[in-house]
Amino acid sequence: HLRSCNKLKIRAYVNFALIKYWGKKDEGLKLPYQTSLSFTVDKLYTETEVIYDKNLYQDIVIINGKKDEKMGNRVAKHMDVIRREYNINSYAHIISENFVPTGAGLASSASAFAALAYAATKTYGLELSKTELSRLARIGSGSASRSIYGDFVIWNHGDDKTSVSKPLDAKWDDFRVIVCMIDENEKECSSSDAMKKSVMNEELYSNWVLESQKDLSEMLQAIENKDIEHVGVIAEKNAEHMHALIEATGTKYKTEKTLEVISKVKALREKGIKAFYTMDAGPNVKIITIESEVAEIKKNLLNIQMIVCKAGFDAHEV
Ligand code: PMV
Repeated sequence: HLRSCNKLKIRAYVNFALIKYWGKKDEGLKLPYQTSLSFTVDKLYTETEVIYDKNLYQDIVIINGKKDEKMGNRVAKHMDVIRREYNINSYAHIISENFVPTGAGLASSASAFAALAYAATKTYGLELSKTELSRLARIGSGSASRSIYGDFVIWNHGDDKTSVSKPLDAKWDDFRVIVCMIDENEKECSSSDAMKKSVMNEELYSNWVLESQKDLSEMLQAIENKDIEHVGVIAEKNAEHMHALIEATGTKYKTEKTLEVISKVKALREKGIKAFYTMDAGPNVKIITIESEVAEIKKNLLNIQMIVCKAGFDAHEV
């Protein structure tokens, strides 16, 4: 089955959630308790090659030119899932590059596991549908299920078969996400462990699930209306709720610098600038806005390194 001309490279883009995924009901299959919604961006992505080699007795994982033991183990574990599901009987060289501005430290498991699922199957000659790829990427890292698609994406909660992403039918050319680099060496306090602690607090967690799903239906309406203020307010509220839950259950991702940027974003708003924020399992802040506000935002946050992102694309071969 292994063809000799099977060298190909897959690129998948990073996505940022406007309605967050937080908490799994199945650890192995990475099934979420709630439906989430994200925006895939153009400036940050991962490119991955999988080269099957019958002579190997284990996978060789090279990330950004280096062997990374921790990530390597996670990648090999996901390769085992892919091999089992698709009857692939060979180990592989897995070569992956994260394209983010030098030293940004914005490691992303979403783009990485989307690119891996796609590359590992396509290189083997398998043509999976995007739905199947989304499911397979999800088993690698939950949020990776959304990185199969560009632009606005919704990831359904549900079971192994139905918990997949699909693109939102929404074109909004002016929408922007500005990534503010706060900590160059983003220390990963594992989202997986933090999620487990959150889920264990039944009262707080069930409230999160309930509220986030209300946020979701409002968000869908706001995106359809291209209403940046409504989108921004809901996204900010949703992220703040997630971080309140995370902090109440013993983890903290915000640093002094995070809080400083957040208060600057809120001050910009006082001045009538349409800027809102969201953040994930790390200290970096993402500003949600539209193109016409970008120059003014940059002018007011001169000391912060920023990456202005537009809508990214479906994962694709390069
Ligand atoms: O897919 P994971 O395990 O990296 O989880 C990421 C969860 C958040 O980034 C915090 C939220 C989200 O929906 O992306």
